[in-house]
Amino acid sequence: MRVLVTGGAGYIGSHTVRELTARGYEVAALDSMERPALQAILKVPFFQADITDESRLDAIFSEFKPEAVIHFAALKAPGASMNEPTRYFRTNVNGTLVLLDTMVRHQTKAMIFSSSCSVFGTPRILPVTEEMPFSPESVYGETKVMGETLLKWFDVTKGLKSVALRYFNAAGASLDNAIGEDWNTTSNLIPLVMKAALGKTESIKVFGSDYPTRDGTAIRDYIHVVDLALAHVKALEYVLNEKHSTAFNLGTGVGCTVQEVIDTVRKVSHRDFRVDYVGRRPGDPVAIWADTSKAGRELEWKAQYNLETIVSTAWAWHSTHPDGL
Ligand code: WQD
Repeated sequence: MRVLVTGGAGYIGSHTVRELTARGYEVAALDSMERPALQAILKVPFFQADITDESRLDAIFSEFKPEAVIHFAALKAPGASMNEPTRYFRTNVNGTLVLLDTMVRHQTKAMIFSSSCSVFGTPRILPVTEEMPFSPESVYGETKVMGETLLKWFDVTKGLKSVALRYFNAAGASLDNAIGEDWNTTSNLIPLVMKAALGKTESIKVFGSDYPTRDGTAIRDYIHVVDLALAHVKALEYVLNEKHSTAFNLGTGVGCTVQEVIDTVRKVSHRDFRVDYVGRRPGDPVAIWADTSKAGRELEWKAQYNLETIVSTAWAWHSTHPDGL
């Protein structure tokens, strides 16, 4: 089975390429960036391309003839999306549209789509089920809602089957320490705490310590990147076997506070660092975690790794690759 992974040089994409190849899939990666060191590790054909470039996609599809696409290629910073909405709509929405159109022209059967818990905004009920109404609070979140809308109508009108996977907070690195997150391009909590622990920054700022939670800091559902990668393999099997389009929330089902993340980094790294408790970050929900029952029931998938494994793999990665690969 030939699978094209867009955004295959990215964080979750590269982990998914590895899990697919380990299971015998014939994989090619498409990415806007050339990353030779990563390409050498992944050992799959790489196409450098912009997903909004229709004629380039046509050429890649004619050459590789993918039978399914796992679509990660997108911009992913909710904060930045509010300053550059056009860029986000163009890459995330128009890019997905051009890709879907190309799939139809080349009779590619199925897509697994990178969606996000940010389609829900601030949840009114916890844990967050797949049936919760969409209420995105950023342009980024809206682009993921629009992506899911495109999938729905490409199924209705063209019979293209898809699974949308809504990630909660992806973190951690591969267990063999071969690949991990590039922290130059992230504003997420765990890599930022790592930077403080490694003395790359003076401190970690905690956004809000007066939330109505067990220690006053906000709660998120941190999910190991390898667990997410495995969910993509399961989703691919699901869509090819069931020939049915759907969506799953992907988290552990367990919420952890910002303070618990920091305490775990201290414990795992044996380093101390300064923590500054500052005001809340605008737009941050107090707490969000996933209801994992649908993914358990229908995908037969469950996260295997807890916060301690997330932090220890991330620490192993960042402390040995401070400048990335
Ligand atoms: C986590 C917690 C911060 C940085 C993002 C996307 C969302 C999604 C998951 C992907 C929050 C706090 C952070 C810092 C802090 N999925 N924090 N100091 O905002 O929960 O979600 O990833 O598509 O769409 O928005 O992730 O890592 O930024 O924050 O205190 O320096 O850590 O306030 O409570 P977030 P995050």
